[in-house]
Amino acid sequence: MNKINFIYFIAAILVAATLFSSCGGKTLDPDPDPYDTEPATPVDKTPKSVYKYGLRELAQANGLLIGAEYTYSEYAQDDSLRVVLKRDFEAVTFGNEMKHDNIVAGDGALVFNRADQMAQWAKDCGLKLFGHTLGWHNQQQSDYLNALISGAKDADEAAALVRKAHKTWVEAMVKHFDVYGWDVVNEVFSDSGDWRSSANTSTKDYHQFLWGSYYSGGTKAFVDSAFRNAREALERNGKTADLYINDYSLEWLGGKLEAICNYAQNNPDVTGIGTQMHISADVPRDNIKTMLERMVKTGKKVRISELDVTLGTADQAETIVYIFDQYLKIVPEAQRGGISFWGVSDKNSWLGYSKEPLLYSYSYRRKDAYLKLHAYLLERSGLDKN
Ligand code: G3I
Repeated sequence: MNKINFIYFIAAILVAATLFSSCGGKTLDPDPDPYDTEPATPVDKTPKSVYKYGLRELAQANGLLIGAEYTYSEYAQDDSLRVVLKRDFEAVTFGNEMKHDNIVAGDGALVFNRADQMAQWAKDCGLKLFGHTLGWHNQQQSDYLNALISGAKDADEAAALVRKAHKTWVEAMVKHFDVYGWDVVNEVFSDSGDWRSSANTSTKDYHQFLWGSYYSGGTKAFVDSAFRNAREALERNGKTADLYINDYSLEWLGGKLEAICNYAQNNPDVTGIGTQMHISADVPRDNIKTMLERMVKTGKKVRISELDVTLGTADQAETIVYIFDQYLKIVPEAQRGGISFWGVSDKNSWLGYSKEPLLYSYSYRRKDAYLKLHAYLLERSGLDKN
Protein backbone atom coordinates (compact mmCIF):
# COMPACT_ATOMS: atom_id res chain seq x y z
CA MET A 1 0.00 0.00 0.00
CA ASN A 2 1.57 3.31 -1.04
CA LYS A 3 1.48 6.44 1.16
CA ILE A 4 -1.64 8.00 -0.49
CA ASN A 5 -3.63 4.75 -0.27
CA PHE A 6 -2.60 4.39 3.35
CA ILE A 7 -3.96 7.88 4.15
CA TYR A 8 -7.26 7.01 2.37
CA PHE A 9 -7.42 3.76 4.32
CA ILE A 10 -7.02 5.50 7.70
CA ALA A 11 -9.56 8.18 6.72
CA ALA A 12 -12.11 5.47 5.75
CA ILE A 13 -11.69 3.77 9.14
CA LEU A 14 -12.26 7.07 10.96
CA VAL A 15 -15.44 7.79 8.97
CA ALA A 16 -16.82 4.28 9.59
CA ALA A 17 -16.09 4.57 13.32
CA THR A 18 -18.03 7.83 13.46
CA LEU A 19 -21.04 6.47 11.59
CA PHE A 20 -21.38 3.33 13.68
CA SER A 21 -20.75 4.71 17.15
CA SER A 22 -22.56 2.84 19.95
CA CYS A 23 -25.04 5.68 20.24
CA GLY A 24 -26.85 4.40 17.19
CA GLY A 25 -25.90 4.82 13.59
CA LYS A 26 -25.55 8.12 11.83
CA THR A 27 -24.33 11.06 13.81
CA LEU A 28 -24.73 13.51 10.93
CA ASP A 29 -28.01 15.33 10.76
CA PRO A 30 -29.79 13.90 7.71
CA ASP A 31 -32.40 16.64 7.53
CA PRO A 32 -31.70 18.74 4.44
CA ASP A 33 -34.03 21.45 5.69
CA PRO A 34 -32.80 25.09 5.55
CA TYR A 35 -33.48 25.46 9.26
CA ASP A 36 -30.87 22.83 9.95
CA THR A 37 -27.82 24.16 8.16
CA GLU A 38 -26.50 27.66 8.21
CA PRO A 39 -27.87 29.28 5.05
CA ALA A 40 -25.59 30.43 2.24
CA THR A 41 -27.89 33.39 1.58
CA PRO A 42 -29.59 35.65 4.13
CA VAL A 43 -33.07 34.37 3.10
CA ASP A 44 -33.38 32.29 6.25
CA LYS A 45 -33.47 34.53 9.30
CA THR A 46 -32.84 31.70 11.74
CA PRO A 47 -30.47 33.06 14.38
CA LYS A 48 -27.02 31.52 14.59
CA SER A 49 -27.73 30.52 18.18
CA VAL A 50 -30.15 27.86 16.91
CA TYR A 51 -27.20 26.02 15.42
CA LYS A 52 -25.10 26.65 18.49
CA TYR A 53 -27.34 25.27 21.25
CA GLY A 54 -29.82 22.43 21.40
CA LEU A 55 -32.92 22.80 23.60
CA ARG A 56 -31.32 20.36 26.01
CA GLU A 57 -28.45 22.68 26.83
CA LEU A 58 -30.74 25.70 27.12
CA ALA A 59 -33.17 23.86 29.37
CA GLN A 60 -30.30 22.72 31.59
CA ALA A 61 -29.11 26.31 31.91
CA ASN A 62 -32.63 27.15 33.15
CA GLY A 63 -32.69 24.33 35.72
CA LEU A 64 -35.12 22.32 33.63
CA LEU A 65 -35.12 18.70 32.45
CA ILE A 66 -36.59 18.52 28.95
CA GLY A 67 -37.77 15.24 27.50
CA ALA A 68 -39.62 13.56 24.67
CA GLU A 69 -41.56 10.38 23.94
CA TYR A 70 -40.94 8.07 20.99
CA THR A 71 -41.85 4.55 19.98
CA TYR A 72 -39.82 1.61 18.71
CA SER A 73 -40.86 2.06 15.09
CA GLU A 74 -39.79 5.71 15.04
CA TYR A 75 -36.54 4.78 16.75
CA ALA A 76 -35.84 2.00 14.25
CA GLN A 77 -36.89 3.89 11.12
CA ASP A 78 -36.16 7.58 11.58
CA ASP A 79 -32.50 8.60 11.55
CA SER A 80 -33.63 12.18 12.08
CA LEU A 81 -35.41 11.24 15.29
CA ARG A 82 -32.25 9.88 16.83
CA VAL A 83 -30.27 12.95 15.81
CA VAL A 84 -32.88 15.29 17.29
CA LEU A 85 -33.23 13.31 20.52
CA LYS A 86 -29.53 13.63 21.22
CA ARG A 87 -29.41 17.30 20.35
CA ASP A 88 -32.55 18.64 21.96
CA PHE A 89 -33.59 16.35 24.80
CA GLU A 90 -32.13 15.08 28.04
CA ALA A 91 -34.83 12.58 29.03
CA VAL A 92 -36.89 10.04 27.09
CA THR A 93 -40.10 8.06 27.58
CA PHE A 94 -41.12 5.09 25.42
CA GLY A 95 -44.63 5.55 23.99
CA ASN A 96 -45.72 1.94 24.28
CA GLU A 97 -42.78 -0.36 24.87
CA MET A 98 -42.79 -0.39 28.70
CA LYS A 99 -46.55 -0.90 28.98
CA HIS A 100 -47.95 -4.13 30.37
CA ASP A 101 -49.23 -5.45 27.03
CA ASN A 102 -45.87 -4.81 25.37
CA ILE A 103 -43.79 -6.61 28.00
CA VAL A 104 -46.13 -9.36 29.21
CA ALA A 105 -46.97 -12.06 26.65
CA GLY A 106 -50.33 -13.84 26.52
CA ASP A 107 -48.89 -16.69 28.63
CA GLY A 108 -47.46 -14.30 31.23
CA ALA A 109 -43.83 -14.50 30.05
CA LEU A 110 -41.89 -11.23 30.17
CA VAL A 111 -40.46 -10.05 26.85
CA PHE A 112 -38.04 -7.16 27.26
CA ASN A 113 -36.31 -7.19 23.83
CA ARG A 114 -37.60 -3.97 22.29
CA ALA A 115 -37.57 -1.90 25.45
CA ASP A 116 -34.07 -3.19 26.24
CA GLN A 117 -32.79 -2.22 22.81
CA MET A 118 -34.24 1.28 23.18
CA ALA A 119 -33.02 1.63 26.77
CA GLN A 120 -29.48 0.62 25.81
CA TRP A 121 -29.37 3.20 23.02
CA ALA A 122 -30.70 5.90 25.32
CA LYS A 123 -28.10 5.00 27.94
CA ASP A 124 -25.28 5.04 25.37
CA CYS A 125 -26.41 8.52 24.34
CA GLY A 126 -26.54 9.81 27.91
CA LEU A 127 -30.34 10.17 27.82
CA LYS A 128 -32.22 9.62 31.09
CA LEU A 129 -35.11 7.14 30.91
CA PHE A 130 -38.57 7.65 32.42
CA GLY A 131 -40.73 4.54 32.95
CA HIS A 132 -44.27 4.60 31.55
CA THR A 133 -46.29 2.91 33.03
CA LEU A 134 -46.75 0.43 35.90
CA GLY A 135 -50.54 0.71 36.05
CA TRP A 136 -53.15 1.80 33.54
CA HIS A 137 -56.61 0.62 32.51
CA ASN A 138 -55.52 0.54 28.84
CA GLN A 139 -52.83 -1.55 27.19
CA GLN A 140 -52.79 -4.20 29.91
CA GLN A 141 -52.19 -7.80 28.87
CA SER A 142 -55.85 -8.63 29.34
CA ASP A 143 -55.57 -12.02 27.58
CA TYR A 144 -53.23 -13.17 30.32
CA LEU A 145 -55.14 -11.51 33.15
CA ASN A 146 -58.51 -12.85 31.99
CA ALA A 147 -57.03 -16.35 31.70
CA LEU A 148 -55.88 -16.11 35.33
CA ILE A 149 -59.38 -15.06 36.38
CA SER A 150 -61.22 -17.75 34.45
CA GLY A 151 -58.90 -20.42 35.88
CA ALA A 152 -59.62 -19.41 39.49
CA LYS A 153 -62.01 -21.49 41.60
CA ASP A 154 -63.92 -18.46 42.92
CA ALA A 155 -63.96 -14.66 43.01
CA ASP A 156 -61.64 -14.48 46.02
CA GLU A 157 -59.01 -16.57 44.34
CA ALA A 158 -59.37 -14.54 41.11
CA ALA A 159 -58.85 -11.30 43.04
CA ALA A 160 -55.81 -12.73 44.84
CA LEU A 161 -54.29 -13.84 41.51
CA VAL A 162 -54.78 -10.40 39.92
CA ARG A 163 -53.26 -8.63 42.92
CA LYS A 164 -50.29 -11.01 42.86
CA ALA A 165 -49.87 -10.49 39.10
CA HIS A 166 -49.64 -6.72 39.57
CA LYS A 167 -47.15 -7.02 42.42
CA THR A 168 -44.97 -9.44 40.42
CA TRP A 169 -45.09 -7.13 37.41
CA VAL A 170 -44.06 -4.08 39.43
CA GLU A 171 -41.19 -5.97 41.02
CA ALA A 172 -39.98 -7.27 37.65
CA MET A 173 -40.09 -3.84 35.99
CA VAL A 174 -38.41 -2.01 38.86
CA LYS A 175 -35.70 -4.65 38.99
CA HIS A 176 -35.13 -4.75 35.24
CA PHE A 177 -35.03 -1.08 34.23
CA ASP A 178 -32.88 1.78 35.51
CA VAL A 179 -35.07 4.85 35.31
CA TYR A 180 -35.16 8.22 37.06
CA GLY A 181 -38.91 8.05 37.57
CA TRP A 182 -41.97 5.85 37.09
CA ASP A 183 -45.55 6.58 36.23
CA VAL A 184 -46.81 4.23 38.92
CA VAL A 185 -50.42 4.75 37.94
CA ASN A 186 -51.95 6.50 34.98
CA GLU A 187 -55.45 7.98 34.60
CA VAL A 188 -57.05 6.54 37.74
CA PHE A 189 -59.64 9.31 38.15
CA SER A 190 -62.74 10.29 36.22
CA ASP A 191 -62.97 13.94 35.11
CA SER A 192 -65.12 14.75 38.12
CA GLY A 193 -62.54 13.29 40.48
CA ASP A 194 -64.15 9.95 41.34
CA TRP A 195 -61.93 6.89 41.30
CA ARG A 196 -62.09 5.20 37.90
CA SER A 197 -64.39 2.19 37.78
CA SER A 198 -66.43 0.22 35.26
CA ALA A 199 -69.29 2.64 35.97
CA ASN A 200 -67.42 5.71 34.68
CA THR A 201 -65.18 4.15 32.02
CA SER A 202 -66.34 3.50 28.48
CA THR A 203 -65.34 0.12 27.17
CA LYS A 204 -62.71 -0.02 24.49
CA ASP A 205 -61.41 -3.24 23.08
CA TYR A 206 -57.72 -2.61 23.27
CA HIS A 207 -56.44 -4.62 26.24
CA GLN A 208 -58.56 -2.74 28.73
CA PHE A 209 -58.52 -4.00 32.28
CA LEU A 210 -59.71 -2.32 35.45
CA TRP A 211 -57.34 -3.49 38.16
CA GLY A 212 -59.39 -1.75 40.85
CA SER A 213 -62.27 -4.22 40.35
CA TYR A 214 -60.12 -6.88 42.04
CA TYR A 215 -59.16 -4.95 45.18
CA SER A 216 -61.55 -4.73 48.11
CA GLY A 217 -61.53 -0.98 48.55
CA GLY A 218 -61.67 -0.51 44.76
CA THR A 219 -59.36 1.69 42.71
CA LYS A 220 -58.03 3.62 45.71
CA ALA A 221 -56.85 0.33 47.24
CA PHE A 222 -55.23 -0.60 43.91
CA VAL A 223 -53.43 2.74 43.73
CA ASP A 224 -52.25 2.51 47.37
CA SER A 225 -50.96 -0.97 46.70
CA ALA A 226 -49.25 0.02 43.42
CA PHE A 227 -47.30 2.81 45.17
CA ARG A 228 -46.44 0.59 48.13
CA ASN A 229 -45.26 -2.20 45.85
CA ALA A 230 -43.18 0.20 43.75
CA ARG A 231 -41.60 1.80 46.82
CA GLU A 232 -40.78 -1.60 48.35
CA ALA A 233 -39.43 -2.95 45.06
CA LEU A 234 -37.06 0.04 44.81
CA GLU A 235 -35.85 -0.57 48.36
CA ARG A 236 -35.40 -4.33 47.80
CA ASN A 237 -33.37 -3.66 44.66
CA GLY A 238 -31.28 -0.84 46.13
CA LYS A 239 -32.63 1.69 43.62
CA THR A 240 -34.06 5.18 43.76
CA ALA A 241 -36.61 6.68 41.38
CA ASP A 242 -39.36 9.26 41.63
CA LEU A 243 -42.84 7.76 41.81
CA TYR A 244 -45.59 9.61 39.93
CA ILE A 245 -49.34 9.65 39.66
CA ASN A 246 -50.16 10.82 36.12
CA ASP A 247 -53.38 12.10 34.52
CA TYR A 248 -54.89 14.18 31.73
CA SER A 249 -57.23 17.21 31.60
CA LEU A 250 -55.90 18.65 34.87
CA GLU A 251 -55.75 22.04 33.10
CA TRP A 252 -59.57 22.06 33.15
CA LEU A 253 -59.36 22.55 36.93
CA GLY A 254 -62.24 20.20 37.67
CA GLY A 255 -62.69 17.66 40.44
CA LYS A 256 -59.88 15.60 38.97
CA LEU A 257 -57.21 18.20 39.77
CA GLU A 258 -58.40 18.40 43.39
CA ALA A 259 -58.62 14.62 43.69
CA ILE A 260 -55.12 13.95 42.34
CA CYS A 261 -53.54 16.73 44.43
CA ASN A 262 -55.26 15.53 47.60
CA TYR A 263 -54.29 11.95 46.97
CA ALA A 264 -50.64 12.79 46.26
CA GLN A 265 -50.41 15.03 49.29
CA ASN A 266 -51.68 12.32 51.60
CA ASN A 267 -49.62 9.41 50.32
CA PRO A 268 -45.96 9.53 51.40
CA ASP A 269 -45.04 6.96 48.72
CA VAL A 270 -45.92 9.48 45.99
CA THR A 271 -43.00 11.68 44.86
CA GLY A 272 -44.82 13.68 42.24
CA ILE A 273 -47.79 14.46 40.05
CA GLY A 274 -47.72 14.28 36.25
CA THR A 275 -50.02 16.51 34.24
CA GLN A 276 -50.17 15.14 30.71
CA MET A 277 -51.28 18.34 28.94
CA HIS A 278 -52.61 17.04 25.65
CA ILE A 279 -54.05 20.46 24.89
CA SER A 280 -55.09 22.89 22.19
CA ALA A 281 -53.32 26.23 21.67
CA ASP A 282 -56.58 27.82 22.82
CA VAL A 283 -56.67 26.40 26.34
CA PRO A 284 -57.32 29.33 28.69
CA ARG A 285 -53.94 30.65 29.83
CA ASP A 286 -55.09 31.28 33.40
CA ASN A 287 -56.07 27.63 33.75
CA ILE A 288 -52.46 26.58 33.18
CA LYS A 289 -51.23 28.98 35.83
CA THR A 290 -53.90 27.93 38.34
CA MET A 291 -53.22 24.23 37.72
CA LEU A 292 -49.47 24.61 38.32
CA GLU A 293 -50.04 26.68 41.48
CA ARG A 294 -52.40 24.04 42.87
CA MET A 295 -49.96 21.24 42.10
CA VAL A 296 -47.04 23.08 43.69
CA LYS A 297 -49.08 23.57 46.88
CA THR A 298 -48.99 19.79 47.49
CA GLY A 299 -45.23 20.01 48.11
CA LYS A 300 -44.75 17.13 45.64
CA LYS A 301 -42.78 17.26 42.37
CA VAL A 302 -44.66 18.60 39.36
CA ARG A 303 -44.03 17.12 35.94
CA ILE A 304 -45.56 18.06 32.60
CA SER A 305 -45.48 14.56 31.27
CA GLU A 306 -47.00 14.33 27.79
CA LEU A 307 -47.14 17.82 26.29
CA ASP A 308 -48.56 18.36 22.81
CA VAL A 309 -50.44 21.42 21.59
CA THR A 310 -52.83 21.18 18.65
CA LEU A 311 -53.39 24.21 16.42
CA GLY A 312 -56.10 26.69 17.38
CA THR A 313 -56.90 30.36 17.10
CA ALA A 314 -54.16 31.32 19.52
CA ASP A 315 -50.55 31.03 18.36
CA GLN A 316 -49.26 27.53 19.11
CA ALA A 317 -45.68 28.69 19.65
CA GLU A 318 -46.76 31.36 22.11
CA THR A 319 -48.85 28.88 24.05
CA ILE A 320 -45.86 26.54 24.37
CA VAL A 321 -43.59 29.39 25.49
CA TYR A 322 -46.26 30.46 27.99
CA ILE A 323 -46.34 26.95 29.48
CA PHE A 324 -42.56 26.85 29.90
CA ASP A 325 -42.54 30.37 31.33
CA GLN A 326 -45.25 29.64 33.89
CA TYR A 327 -43.62 26.34 34.83
CA LEU A 328 -40.26 28.02 35.47
CA LYS A 329 -41.87 30.86 37.41
CA ILE A 330 -44.27 28.80 39.52
CA VAL A 331 -42.49 25.50 40.19
CA PRO A 332 -39.50 25.85 42.52
CA GLU A 333 -36.39 24.05 41.23
CA ALA A 334 -36.55 21.36 43.95
CA GLN A 335 -40.08 20.46 42.85
CA ARG A 336 -39.36 20.34 39.12
CA GLY A 337 -39.87 16.93 37.55
CA GLY A 338 -39.37 18.44 34.08
CA ILE A 339 -41.34 18.97 30.90
CA SER A 340 -41.67 16.15 28.40
CA PHE A 341 -43.26 16.31 24.93
CA TRP A 342 -45.40 13.40 23.74
CA GLY A 343 -43.45 13.02 20.53
CA VAL A 344 -40.84 14.85 18.49
CA SER A 345 -42.10 15.18 14.91
CA ASP A 346 -45.70 15.78 13.81
CA LYS A 347 -45.20 12.76 11.54
CA ASN A 348 -45.43 10.38 14.47
CA SER A 349 -47.86 12.10 16.81
CA TRP A 350 -50.50 9.79 18.31
CA LEU A 351 -52.99 12.48 17.22
CA GLY A 352 -52.05 12.16 13.55
CA TYR A 353 -49.75 14.51 11.66
CA SER A 354 -52.48 16.91 10.52
CA LYS A 355 -52.94 18.25 14.06
CA GLU A 356 -49.30 19.45 13.96
CA PRO A 357 -48.95 19.38 17.77
CA LEU A 358 -45.16 19.08 18.18
CA LEU A 359 -41.92 21.09 17.81
CA TYR A 360 -40.74 19.42 14.62
CA SER A 361 -42.59 19.20 11.31
CA TYR A 362 -43.42 15.99 9.41
CA SER A 363 -39.97 16.16 7.80
CA TYR A 364 -38.18 17.03 11.05
CA ARG A 365 -37.97 20.71 10.26
CA ARG A 366 -37.69 23.03 13.25
CA LYS A 367 -41.09 24.71 13.44
CA ASP A 368 -41.95 28.18 14.69
CA ALA A 369 -42.81 26.57 18.04
CA TYR A 370 -39.27 25.23 18.27
CA LEU A 371 -37.67 28.54 17.30
CA LYS A 372 -39.72 30.59 19.75
CA LEU A 373 -39.11 28.14 22.58
CA HIS A 374 -35.40 28.17 21.76
CA ALA A 375 -35.31 31.98 21.79
CA TYR A 376 -37.21 32.10 25.09
CA LEU A 377 -34.94 29.59 26.83
CA LEU A 378 -31.81 31.24 25.45
CA GLU A 379 -32.88 34.70 26.62
CA ARG A 380 -33.63 33.38 30.10
CA SER A 381 -30.44 31.29 30.33
CA GLY A 382 -27.99 34.18 30.14
CA LEU A 383 -25.85 32.15 27.71
CA ASP A 384 -23.91 33.90 24.98
CA LYS A 385 -26.18 34.51 21.97
CA ASN A 386 -23.44 34.75 19.34
O1 G3I B 1 -48.98 -2.95 17.64
C1 G3I B 1 -50.31 -3.05 18.10
C2 G3I B 1 -50.93 -4.41 17.83
O2 G3I B 1 -50.25 -5.39 18.54
C3 G3I B 1 -52.39 -4.36 18.20
O3 G3I B 1 -52.98 -5.61 18.08
C4 G3I B 1 -53.13 -3.38 17.31
C5 G3I B 1 -54.52 -3.14 17.92
O4 G3I B 1 -55.10 -1.94 17.64
O5 G3I B 1 -52.40 -2.16 17.03
C6 G3I B 1 -51.10 -1.90 17.58
O6 G3I B 1 -51.27 -1.18 18.75
C7 G3I B 1 -51.37 0.22 18.78
C8 G3I B 1 -50.33 0.72 19.79
O7 G3I B 1 -50.47 2.12 19.98
C9 G3I B 1 -48.90 0.44 19.33
O8 G3I B 1 -48.64 1.10 18.16
C10 G3I B 1 -52.75 0.61 19.24
O9 G3I B 1 -53.71 0.27 18.27
C11 G3I B 1 -52.83 2.09 19.54
O10 G3I B 1 -54.08 2.38 20.13
C12 G3I B 1 -51.73 2.45 20.52
O11 G3I B 1 -51.81 3.83 20.74
C13 G3I B 1 -51.13 4.33 21.88
C14 G3I B 1 -52.14 4.83 22.91
O12 G3I B 1 -51.43 5.39 24.01
C15 G3I B 1 -53.04 3.71 23.41
O13 G3I B 1 -54.04 4.22 24.19
C16 G3I B 1 -50.26 5.49 21.43
O14 G3I B 1 -49.25 4.99 20.55
C17 G3I B 1 -49.62 6.16 22.63
O15 G3I B 1 -48.97 7.35 22.22
C18 G3I B 1 -50.71 6.54 23.64
O16 G3I B 1 -50.10 7.11 24.75
C19 G3I B 1 -50.98 7.55 25.80
C20 G3I B 1 -50.21 7.40 27.10
O17 G3I B 1 -49.72 6.10 27.24
C21 G3I B 1 -51.09 7.78 28.29
N1 G3I B 1 -51.64 9.11 28.13
C22 G3I B 1 -52.32 9.37 26.85
C23 G3I B 1 -51.40 9.03 25.69
C24 G3I B 1 -52.06 9.39 24.38
O18 G3I B 1 -53.19 8.60 24.16
